[in-house]
Amino acid sequence: MPTSMPSFMSLVCLIMVININRISLSYTIPSTSTQLYVVPFPSLFGVNGDGSRAHPFSSLQQALDHIELNYYRSTVMRTDMITINLYPTHHFVNTIYFRQAHSHTRLTTMNAEDTAFYKDLAVEDHIHRKLSTASISGGIPVTGWISVGDNLYKARVTTTTFINQLFVDNRRISRTRLPMNPSEYLQYAAPLQDPNQARYGFQYAAGQFESWPLDDAMVVVYHSWTTSHHYIDKLNLSNKTILFTNPSNSPIGAAVAQGQRRFHVENMCISYVPNSFCFSNATKTVYLMTDSSYDPNKSQIMTSINEYVVVLAGNSSTNPIEDIIIDNVAIQHSAWNIERTQQADYQAASFLTSAPLYIANATSIIITDVEISHTGSYGIWIKEGTNSINIINSLITDTGAGGIRIGQMISPVPTPTTSIHIISNEVSYGGNVFPSGVGIISHRAVDVIIADNSIHHHRYTGISIGWEWGYAPSYTSNVLVQGNYIYNIGQHILCDQGGIYTLGIQPGTIIHGNVIKNVFSYAMYMWGIYLDEGTSQIIVSNNVVYNTGWASFFQHYGANNTIINNVFARASLNPPPHPDDPKTDGNIHVGLAENHTSITFERNIVYDTFQGTNHSAYLSDQDAIVFLNNNLYYNSNGAELLFGRQQISFSDWQKTGQDNGSIIADPLFVGDVNQCDFFTIQSNSPAAKLGFTNLTKLSKWTSGCDMNDKIDNNNQFYYW
Ligand SMILES: *[C@@H]1O[C@H](CO)[C@@H](O)[C@H](O)[C@H]1NC(C)=O
Ligand SMILES: *[C@@H]1O[C@H](CO)[C@@H](O)[C@H](O)[C@H]1NC(C)=O
Ligand SMILES: *[C@@H]1O[C@H](CO)[C@@H](O)[C@H](O)[C@H]1NC(C)=O
Ligand SMILES: *[C@@H]1O[C@H](CO)[C@@H](O)[C@H](O)[C@H]1NC(C)=O
Ligand SMILES: *[C@@H]1O[C@H](CO)[C@@H](O)[C@H](O)[C@H]1NC(C)=O
Ligand SMILES: *[C@@H]1O[C@H](CO)[C@@H](O)[C@H](O)[C@H]1NC(C)=O
Ligand SMILES: *[C@@H]1O[C@H](CO)[C@@H](O)[C@H](O)[C@H]1NC(C)=O
Ligand SMILES: *[C@@H]1O[C@H](CO)[C@@H](O)[C@H](O)[C@H]1NC(C)=O
Ligand SMILES: *[C@@H]1O[C@H](CO)[C@@H](O)[C@H](O)[C@H]1NC(C)=O
Ligand SMILES: *[C@@H]1O[C@H](CO)[C@@H](O)[C@H](O)[C@H]1NC(C)=O
Ligand SMILES: *[C@@H]1O[C@H](CO)[C@@H](O)[C@H](O)[C@H]1NC(C)=O
Repeated sequence: MPTSMPSFMSLVCLIMVININRISLSYTIPSTSTQLYVVPFPSLFGVNGDGSRAHPFSSLQQALDHIELNYYRSTVMRTDMITINLYPTHHFVNTIYFRQAHSHTRLTTMNAEDTAFYKDLAVEDHIHRKLSTASISGGIPVTGWISVGDNLYKARVTTTTFINQLFVDNRRISRTRLPMNPSEYLQYAAPLQDPNQARYGFQYAAGQFESWPLDDAMVVVYHSWTTSHHYIDKLNLSNKTILFTNPSNSPIGAAVAQGQRRFHVENMCISYVPNSFCFSNATKTVYLMTDSSYDPNKSQIMTSINEYVVVLAGNSSTNPIEDIIIDNVAIQHSAWNIERTQQADYQAASFLTSAPLYIANATSIIITDVEISHTGSYGIWIKEGTNSINIINSLITDTGAGGIRIGQMISPVPTPTTSIHIISNEVSYGGNVFPSGVGIISHRAVDVIIADNSIHHHRYTGISIGWEWGYAPSYTSNVLVQGNYIYNIGQHILCDQGGIYTLGIQPGTIIHGNVIKNVFSYAMYMWGIYLDEGTSQIIVSNNVVYNTGWASFFQHYGANNTIINNVFARASLNPPPHPDDPKTDGNIHVGLAENHTSITFERNIVYDTFQGTNHSAYLSDQDAIVFLNNNLYYNSNGAELLFGRQQISFSDWQKTGQDNGSIIADPLFVGDVNQCDFFTIQSNSPAAKLGFTNLTKLSKWTSGCDMNDKIDNNNQFYYW
């Protein structure tokens, strides 16, 4: 095999060291290895390339087949690294499987010199554009657009796939929606009384459904923390009932205050706005309304076809694929699919089974400087039988559900997910199909590090850890969530969520040094750090939480959690757009009383800006067993802060034996509180005397108290 050594290799022949305080990981990319080339223009190179630079393969699949045939089946176990160099354009693939046979392989974009080598040969049209990195696409181009007037175009597709996502020049186009304004909803008239039907429909209001084209429509119903997605079975006009082909998880309308009978309808070819599309399944026709700024025939228009794009999976956990590096490529255009009778409603959109980058039965995997975007479900799922999986310095954006999913939901866990490192990634703009997708979720997994990530613009929880509601074995431990910047979470759409959310007993789990900003639900239940059912044995330290709709910190129920040296500021800001929204719950909130210690809460700063009366610094629904000591509380407007279940004054509260050593005083921040700079305290701060120590400012954090969920990706057509 030719082993030309591109100069780029010397650049990547380095040791990457990531230092997150005590944590440090090192990887070595070998400097000498076999090079294979893939240039996806078969007509120019013929189909019988050998992978050399002069005779490249025309598909990634050919390169993988070559590796299996020449290095796996015929020789003893190979340990040197083979590099597959992709030409920087779209590589349209059916699902690409890396199996054991492909262990010790690196997949990357070819360097500038090699790219230039193919310059005169590679076709470049609007489909085969040259890109900055190779894109492995699970989609196909949609071409041949015919104008039907008023910026509306149509194109027929030859695939049998139901087209439910469209991307124009690297931007997501929304499906037509009713109401057309994306922050408005329709409201149904009433839930169904019959318990057997209550998950399958509702009574609609006058003017709804009867005159609409419903064959390909999807009804999206808002519950509390989820939406359910439904195809339509039938209407009964005489009793104004709509029935769906698939159920929701809980009865529609059960969450009265959270759901507010909200729904919207997608994919009816009547409610076009500029940059929206719909699909007629009977005629296999896509209709696209542009904003007149582009000609669809000259644009790169893609739809997603495959739910899985790149799969790294050994056929068993005892025979894993190992030693794979994927760097400097994009993985894009993955599909979502819901069968007509399948339930599409569960916490964290966990009913989804696929991901464009899917890793199972694998060990020693490095994914670095990769972009994963325009997905139908989560971006990445690291699932069963995995060990030492590293996702570093990558961008996971424009996802249908959430960003990164780790671990398994079943209990007991047969083949564990362990030693997972999610470090220095940006995870953004999620929930575009399924709003309940979480930025980064770890179901049941152990020894997980989620550090130094920026997680923003999601419609539900930022980071979620654990998947056991209560005190049964959780198969979750030693999860370090450190130094993440989590902001613009919730977006006023769903309810009952957190910047960081946890479940179950988690020995060794630490939530340290994160910054959480702007957590807002539609109507209620929106917390900065949210320890939900059974969360136990975790430490919450040195975090900054501000601009939350409800309390900065809420524990529903759980045991032995330690909350220490945090700044909790500007809580209970819920802008009350709906007159019947319940009252906010103050700054720190514990739900149930149990026969064990719920929390220990020490050396925290609670900086409250509430204006009004009857406002709790610490609220407990029942007389929970808690130990609060040496905390500093302050209301910048001079409003009185109340404590405990009885909502008593601070001095009466201290008489009950709580908050020994605590004070009410201005913490004297060094930073500008008007810029929400709550990290450091002056040396003469009263908090310093209580033992509070300065926090580390995250490099990604920027100052400002802005609560508006500002859109900072002007490059997208869809709305927030
Ligand atoms: C787009 O190209 C097709 C041929 O592929 C042509 O029939 C059609 O008229 C073109 N549409 C526009 C709007 O120019
Ligand atoms: C209304 O019509 C639907 C569909 O025919 C039927 O299933 C349902 O039982 C009816 N509801 C009532 C309250 O009669
Ligand atoms: C529609 O609902 C009415 C009233 O409940 C019922 O009598 C009728 O049978 C339903 N029609 C159909 C087609 O199910
Ligand atoms: C779309 O049409 C195909 C037949 O071409 C059918 O098999 C499929 O069920 C339809 N999809 C949906 C979601 O209705
Ligand atoms: C898994 O793959 C290995 C290596 O290809 C093979 O020996 C083994 O039989 C496979 N096991 C199963 C269950 O397919
Ligand atoms: C991983 O291995 C287990 C058996 O150990 C097997 O059941 C599972 O299907 C494998 N996963 C994949 C994605 O192949
Ligand atoms: C909480 O701590 C107590 C005392 O150490 C211990 O007995 C109990 O098992 C712990 N509970 C949980 C759920 O961790
Ligand atoms: C604590 O409460 C739980 C659940 O209510 C009960 O099962 C357990 O026996 C109680 N433990 C003690 C020590 O009272
Ligand atoms: C203050 O709020 C608590 C709980 O939110 C409520 O139970 C109580 O009645 C309120 N007190 C007053 C005086 O409004
Ligand atoms: C506060 O001090 C008193 C007296 O030493 C003690 O009984 C009580 O348990 C302490 N409170 C807390 C929350 O630690
Ligand atoms: C915290 O850090 C600031 C800025 O570095 C410094 O001025 C201040 O003295 C520190 N506070 C304490 C209590 O050490």
